[in-house]
Amino acid sequence: MNLTLHVWRQPRADAKGAMVTYQATNVSPDMSFLEMLDVLNEELSLRGEEPIAFDHDCREGICGMCGFMINGVAHGPERATTVCQLHMRKFSDGDVLYLEPWRSRAFPVVRDLVVDRGAFDRVVAAGGYVSVSSGSAPEANAIPVPKDAADQSMDAAACIGCGACVAACPNASAMLFTGAKVAHLALLPQGQAERYDRALNMVSQMDGEGFGSCTNIGECASVCPKEISLDVIALLNRDLLAAGVKAGKRTKG
Ligand code: SF4
Ligand code: FES
Repeated sequence: MNLTLHVWRQPRADAKGAMVTYQATNVSPDMSFLEMLDVLNEELSLRGEEPIAFDHDCREGICGMCGFMINGVAHGPERATTVCQLHMRKFSDGDVLYLEPWRSRAFPVVRDLVVDRGAFDRVVAAGGYVSVSSGSAPEANAIPVPKDAADQSMDAAACIGCGACVAACPNASAMLFTGAKVAHLALLPQGQAERYDRALNMVSQMDGEGFGSCTNIGECASVCPKEISLDVIALLNRDLLAAGVKAGKRTKG
């Protein structure tokens, strides 16, 4: 099949960008979306033009490196699927596609479809850890974890940090990401020691990075390739409230 691609090209972070039109020809339906771009890039290189820059690593939907907007939808039209796992059979001959990077002040464009998601790393560094005493490894069954808690924690831990939730949100909020990172620790006994400070510190970092506030629109969850539930935002808000109450008691005490 043949496709028309309008791709955002921007040579540097401080350069002006623009949409540039390309023809992708003889595309096999069995190719992944990134393989289709690989072939186009090969053609651009042979013509002496700059290849289109896009992020990727595992190409298995687990590392969170890939992601851009396809016709205005983060990761494209297939639900619960990263762009590296999206296949060309999802498209039809003659389709016209618009490819753009994530748009958010907290994710500045580095080049073409690549953005800097360092803000996510700093949110995690602000509290995404647990206290572990040094010494020999503890006995695996020493801390019983209820099955429900383990399952919910594992669901939250599925977040791959791709940033699609931020890109899809009209407020560019990172609450789904931060909620997932807070929830997967808050639901486990090992995560209790720093639980409320974690929520406070990670949200404070999130706000400082320039992400917007959550207004319960839900676009984040609808594009999330790992189907992270809005429940993690509710848990984050509850922990934040509890952290405020605790901080108030500490101030009074
Ligand atoms: S919550 Fe979903 S969309 Fe957001 S960073 Fe995690 S995996 Fe990506
Ligand atoms: S390249 Fe790793 S999730 Fe897409």
